Amino acid sequence: MLNASINLNVRGLKKSATLEINERSIALEKSGNKIYRFGLGQSPFPVPESVVKALKDNAHQKDYLPVQGLRELRESISAFHLLNDDVRYHSDQILIGPGSKELMFLLQMVYYGDIQIPSPCWVSYAPQARIIGRHIEVIPTSFESRWRISPDHLKTILKIDPLKPRLLILNYPGNPDGLTYSEIELQEIAEIARSHRLIILSDEIYGLLNHSGTHKSIAQYYPEGTIISSGLSKWCGAGGWRLGTFAFPKELTWILNAMNVVASETYTSVSAPIQYAAIRAFSMGNDINEYLHASREILKMIGNHLFDTLVKKDVRLHAPTGAFYLFPDFTSFKEQLYLRNISTSSDLANSLLKETGVATLPGSAFGCPKEELTLRLAYVNFNGRKALDWYSNTSLPTTDGLRKVCPEPFDAVDRIVEWIEQLH
Ligand SMILES: Cc1ncc(COP(=O)(O)O)c(C=O)c1O
Repeated sequence: MLNASINLNVRGLKKSATLEINERSIALEKSGNKIYRFGLGQSPFPVPESVVKALKDNAHQKDYLPVQGLRELRESISAFHLLNDDVRYHSDQILIGPGSKELMFLLQMVYYGDIQIPSPCWVSYAPQARIIGRHIEVIPTSFESRWRISPDHLKTILKIDPLKPRLLILNYPGNPDGLTYSEIELQEIAEIARSHRLIILSDEIYGLLNHSGTHKSIAQYYPEGTIISSGLSKWCGAGGWRLGTFAFPKELTWILNAMNVVASETYTSVSAPIQYAAIRAFSMGNDINEYLHASREILKMIGNHLFDTLVKKDVRLHAPTGAFYLFPDFTSFKEQLYLRNISTSSDLANSLLKETGVATLPGSAFGCPKEELTLRLAYVNFNGRKALDWYSNTSLPTTDGLRKVCPEPFDAVDRIVEWIEQLH
């Protein structure tokens, strides 16, 4: 008999909720049910052709690369941040990792301080902190504050122990809500962070998917204390390629150096062909700009249609500003839901999946109190290649036209509406 012994920090943790819903949806589909997959937040769009070609051309690259990442790639990422965020980084201040998720884990491991996260927020920040053994400070948000941290609330929390070392994680456009911060909010948060010497991890993985192309980084207002997190997964449709990037100010080189040490003892370096191909992606250019423009327009049309449809049915929801998520709140149906034994977001997601085939994630997976009746819809269940072709071949693209080529998200919201109607 072997001695089973699991690290206390990992004991009891479950597989990531997003991956679990995907597996459950696949199982239901296999047994003949029609499933509308609003669960997994993966880009529906293909990787741009020029980037795929660069990967093919570099399939022969076989050497281990520098731990920090290929110099040429780091240079193109510096140019990318200057172009898109108006922030200047030397290529020595860039770190490449196998997905931004892994870089976040390394960051939490090398940084010794509390981790501040909003609720709701992306599913993996808190489990990572727990695995490493970091103390988590949750900053609750609400529908009324558009699921954003309010600067005043942040100030109040920080007053308790003003100079305690803390890492604040911000994510905008946000997963699970598809919303972003205004410039004024970013400036206010930057000011508070500076006066409390907070370090900000600014997770901007959806930055280029701001629907109107107007993403702003908090690094513009708090350059000395902000690390920008980005990567290929969302705007470039390459989640499975596993390439993430961190950009550090000179003042935080000590964190970069420590992360480099841990990287050298764990993953060594990101796959060489992927790094060479990523140079093409981060260098942008006309084809990528067109791809991005079309991606945003398509997401905007679908997101706005879903928003209009649900709001007409009294679901509480904010109009999306980026990414491919909506975070509807079903509180208006609390009584009707309660009569059907639905009193938590998890009950709500399960009933919806069973009765309509629409797979979503409960708000509780994102750290919301379990009785808050919220769901995350990831409107990515359509053929992104077809949508891009349609967009580039249509002189006046309309939502009705898009529905004809990509009916799935539209049908899914109709199923939700039918379900709401029979609640009354
Ligand atoms: C908010 C957010 N941050 C980070 C990640 C991780 O991305 P990557 O593929 O770079 O690890 C995701 C992926 O779903 C995400 O939604």
